[in-house]
Amino acid sequence: MKIERPRGTRDFLPDEMERRRAVERVMREIAESFGYREVSTPTFEHLELFTLKSGQGIVEEIYAFRDKSGRELALRPELTAPVMRMFVNECSVMPRPLRFYYLSNCFRYERPQKGRYREFWQFGVELIGSDRPESDAEVIMLAYRILKSLNVNFKLHVGHVGLLRDVLSDVSEKDRAMRLIDKKDWEGLRALLKEEGQADIFDTVIEISEASDVEKAREVYPDFDYSYLEVLFGILEEMDVRFVPDFGIARGLDYYTGVVFEMYAEGLGAQKQVCGGGSYRLSGLFGGEDVPSTGFAIGFDRVVQVCSVEILRKPKAVVVGFGDSIRAFRVAEMLRSAGIHAIVDVMGRNVKKQLSYADSIKADFAVFAGDELERGQVRIKNLRTQEQEDVSLKDLRGYFSGFLNSGS
Ligand code: HAM
Repeated sequence: MKIERPRGTRDFLPDEMERRRAVERVMREIAESFGYREVSTPTFEHLELFTLKSGQGIVEEIYAFRDKSGRELALRPELTAPVMRMFVNECSVMPRPLRFYYLSNCFRYERPQKGRYREFWQFGVELIGSDRPESDAEVIMLAYRILKSLNVNFKLHVGHVGLLRDVLSDVSEKDRAMRLIDKKDWEGLRALLKEEGQADIFDTVIEISEASDVEKAREVYPDFDYSYLEVLFGILEEMDVRFVPDFGIARGLDYYTGVVFEMYAEGLGAQKQVCGGGSYRLSGLFGGEDVPSTGFAIGFDRVVQVCSVEILRKPKAVVVGFGDSIRAFRVAEMLRSAGIHAIVDVMGRNVKKQLSYADSIKADFAVFAGDELERGQVRIKNLRTQEQEDVSLKDLRGYFSGFLNSGS
C-alpha cells in the first residue's frame, strides 16, 4: 500500500534542499550582521499560549490535541508567542534589548493552496525591550535588506494599528473588526458595525485604509498622535528603505499594538505576502513584566519560490575502483581532505558502469584508484573538459584548489 504524505505538507528533494539552505544562509548572515542571535523553542506548546490573546476561536485554525495525560497542546502556528514565553521564563534578567532570530517550521490548519501550506517555515526576528521608533525602523530595515539581498521583487507597506483601533474604540468586538479589515471583508465589517450601532464609522475606516500618507490620514482622523510614525518614516526614508504608508494594515494576529508592516512579492499570485510584523506587548499576558517588543516573520517557502540566490557547490568526484574497495575508500578520504565531495561505488559495478553513473549524477571528476597508486599517484579525468592527467597524491589539494569556491 502506498502511503501519501498528509495534506498541506511537502517533501523536499536534494536540489530543493540545496536551494533552501542557500536562502537560509543569506537570511542568517544578514540577521547576525545586525546583532541577532538564533533561538529555538519547542515544536509544541500548551494550547493556552495561543488562546490567551486570540481566544478559543483560534483553535479551529491550529493543530490542537490532547496528549496521553490529557494535556491540551498545540503545534506552534507561529513563533512570536513561544519566543515571548521563553523570554518571560528564561531571559527576563538578560541585558536589553534582546535580539533573537529563528528559522522554524509552523503548523496551521488551513485550506492548502499554492503558497499556503499546513506545515511551512518562518524566518523571523524579535527585538525585545524598546518602544522607540528606532526599534521598528531596525526590524523593518532588516527584513528589507534580507529580501533585497535575495533579489525578491517586493513592496513594503507600513502602518500603525493604533489608528484603526482608535477609530474602533467604541466597538466591543475590536479584534473581530480588525480581522475583517485584515481580510478586506468590507461587507462583514459593515454588518458588525451595524450590529454594534456604530455604522457611522464605516466610512472613516475605509478612508483611513485608503489614505496614502500621514497628511491624508490626519485630514480623515486628526485625533491621533502621528509623531511616532513621522519619526519612523523619516528614518526609513533616510536609510533608503522604500515603502508605502498604509493605514489599512490590520494584521491577522491579535497582539499588535503599534507599527505594523507587510511585504508583498511579485510572482506569487494570491499568497503574495512574504513578510509580516510589527510591535506588540505579550510578555505581561504570559506572566512577566510588560515589555515592548517588535519583530517580523518572513514566509520562508514563499521567498524560496521567488528569490534568486547563488548556490555554492563543491566539486564532486566519483572514485572509480577496480574491484579493490579499500583502495577506493582510501582515495575518497584523501579527496575529501582536499575539499572535494568523493563518491565511492558500493554496487560492485564495472568501470564502464561506474563512469556512466558518474555522468548521470553530473560528477565533475572521475578519479581512478588504479595501479598508479603504487607510484603515489591517481589518474584524474575532468569530466567537463575530458582532459586527463596523473596527479601525485601529495598535490591533490593544489590540483583541486582552482575548482573550489566557484559557484554553479
Ligand atoms: P504572519 O503574517 O501570520 O505573522 O506570518 C508571517 C508570514 O508567514 C506571512 O507573511 C506568510 O508569508 C507566511 N505564512 C503564513 N501562513 C502561511 C502558510 N499557511 N503557508 C506558507 N506561508 C505562510 C506572524 O506569524 C507573526 N508571528 C510575525 C511577527 C513576528 N510579528 C512580530 N514578530
